[in-house]
Amino acid sequence: MSAAAAESGDIQAIVDRGFGSLRAARYLLLRVINPAAARAWLRGLTVTSLANARSHRVSRVDQIAFTAAGLRTLGFAPDSVPGFAPEFLDGMAGDERRSHRLGDAGENAPQYWDWGAGEKEPHVLLILLSTEEAIEALETQIVSALPAAGCTLLALNRSNTRVGHEPFGFADGVSQPALDWEGTLHPGGVRDRIYRNRLAMGEVLLGYPNEYGFVADHTAKGIGRNGSYLVYRQLEQDVRGFWQWLAQAAGPDGAGVLAERMVGRTMDGAPLDGLPETPVEGTQDRDNSFTFAADPDGIACPIGAHVRRANPRSSDDPQGRRGFFRDLLSSAGLKGTAIHDAVAAARFHRIVRRGRSYGPAMSPGEAMAAGEDAPLEPSGIHFICLNANLARQFEFVQGAWISSHNFAGLSGESDPLLGHRKPVNGGMATDAFSHVDRQGCPRLIGGLPRFVTVKGGAYFFLPGLKGLAAILAD
Ligand code: HEM
Repeated sequence: MSAAAAESGDIQAIVDRGFGSLRAARYLLLRVINPAAARAWLRGLTVTSLANARSHRVSRVDQIAFTAAGLRTLGFAPDSVPGFAPEFLDGMAGDERRSHRLGDAGENAPQYWDWGAGEKEPHVLLILLSTEEAIEALETQIVSALPAAGCTLLALNRSNTRVGHEPFGFADGVSQPALDWEGTLHPGGVRDRIYRNRLAMGEVLLGYPNEYGFVADHTAKGIGRNGSYLVYRQLEQDVRGFWQWLAQAAGPDGAGVLAERMVGRTMDGAPLDGLPETPVEGTQDRDNSFTFAADPDGIACPIGAHVRRANPRSSDDPQGRRGFFRDLLSSAGLKGTAIHDAVAAARFHRIVRRGRSYGPAMSPGEAMAAGEDAPLEPSGIHFICLNANLARQFEFVQGAWISSHNFAGLSGESDPLLGHRKPVNGGMATDAFSHVDRQGCPRLIGGLPRFVTVKGGAYFFLPGLKGLAAILAD
């Protein structure tokens, strides 16, 4: 048994699984007013470990995470424990340059968020997952305990119960890395040149070897061991605006096709036509058995499609074609190729997604027909991801791939779903989307509106259970 598997009793269960069968989720964002009372109350909660979840079918999952501000308020002083990530210590909204890199500009800027910045920075995140029948009683039980627990409720975020679908109508949660619980990977070999889905434990859990073969925990006293960094962003989606813009840009009959090209998958989650089935180590699933190696020009899947930006798999270099002699030289270590560098790069930037969507369901047809003044309840994603290195994983994916107007040789565009659309660097546009249409004609569509607005966000530390006990000790 690998070390990580042996320590499953010390690992919060969400590291390994999303618990899709527990269809209701609540995300409670708390501020601590009375640290001693809060520590005592948090100590009394039963946190679900991976060992619990493996031993029996759980009907309730409780997970706890802290911002750096929360650890400070609780009296734990993360700044004096060497090894906590600087991004975590700063906080997601703690530095203007970070906000700029993450694309948190214009209407997405932290000053407009409902929670996450300044006085609205949360201290504690409590995640509750349960059945639809049981969740309300759990929510009431926790919320009514808060005054005596020395905490105030900054936000109570509720998911909807459509697990596996996001509000624009696409299947979500299709591609996830397979964590190497068995400890079979030996990163650094020539086999790493081929895209694989299996991921070293140290990419998500502190205390284990990562994709460089190094142990990803430098916190003093091993407080990080079996912990992870949890990124939470509340991303509101303008479902009506998305589908009405698509209908205008491509006609009502072409809207679905253009939406699928922007996402880079079909609505039911299949790879786009023209991406040949390719065995990928670490998945048996047809929907994940592909790379972009056979599609260097983005004819099957646009280079700038959301999934291709978020995980370029074989290459984030569109000119990454291989010739026999280049390959031979590169295998002999005499010459690197762009594609090998890029393949090597892709496995250093994976994230494990654990979010859920919120708000009412609206089909594309309803969204296209909805009148301007139809009252709409907000909908979106409580985007949550886990990683061991905030800078190299989440921040790189969000900043260098999703938000960048210079991704993979494209310019003047950013992620077609997520971009803020504001010009950057003194006037460079970011609101275009280029693709090759079904007839093989290159198309450049300009003037994309903003479809997603950031409503809140924070970086959390999700400790192992021993780390949690140390944080909450009196
Ligand atoms: C409202 C916001 C978002 C929407 C509607 C959205 C939608 C989707 C959809 C439909 C997929 C394809 C299905 C799947 O593989 O799960 C996907 C994949 C993915 N998304 Fe997002 N997403 C959003 C935000 C984000 C953000 C903020 C990130 C990271 C910073 C991200 C990273 C990913 C990754 C890594 C994949 C898998 C790519 C792959 O391995 O093929 N997404 N997303």
